[in-house]
Amino acid sequence: MKTLVVYYSRPDENYGVGEIEIGNTELLAKEIIKQTGADEFKIEPTQPYPKEYMDCVNQATEELKNQACPAYSGDIDLKDYDTIYLGYPIWWGDLPMVCYTFLEKHDLTGKIIIPFNTHEGSGNSGTYAKLREKFPTATFKGDGFAMTGHEARTPDGIAKLNTWLKTL
Ligand SMILES: Cc1cc2nc3c(=O)[nH]c(=O)nc-3n(C[C@H](O)[C@H](O)[C@H](O)COP(=O)(O)O)c2cc1C
Repeated sequence: MKTLVVYYSRPDENYGVGEIEIGNTELLAKEIIKQTGADEFKIEPTQPYPKEYMDCVNQATEELKNQACPAYSGDIDLKDYDTIYLGYPIWWGDLPMVCYTFLEKHDLTGKIIIPFNTHEGSGNSGTYAKLREKFPTATFKGDGFAMTGHEARTPDGIAKLNTWLKTL
């Protein structure tokens, strides 16, 4: 059985880091892939989120309020994977709704899920507990890994990620 890194990450204008070409969570995801040899699935919303930070915040607010699950492009069959690293930024104290689109579309029964996230102050914001509750047939391994987005862009941040990876 194989390992997969599934993540959503948004480039463009973001909080505290300005205009970026590669999202903060994606930097962590790529390092996990490099270290573990895992396969990759990046959740790409069919309709990309706005490039301007405030426009994105407004859209995310609406989606969360309406519990609207936006579509994403492509997909991956999870049957060959037993371990899934799940990466996301914190949006309004939660996962971006597009991540729920992915999670609810797939059967996570028996999968080992290892969550990681970036944020700018909220930590994991209770999302690890929420995921455990929402997907009780999956097995959650470890305590997860939460890092500020700006730190994820530094060598020190990547070193901390690697220290965590070794604990798993
Ligand atoms: C729509 C939106 C909502 C956000 N809400 C929060 C939040 O509630 N708490 C927090 O700590 N950071 C919040 N942030 C900051 C992001 O979690 C942080 O910048 C993250 O590193 C972005 O990762 P990414 O580049 O992989 O998308 C928010 C950012 C956006 C765009």
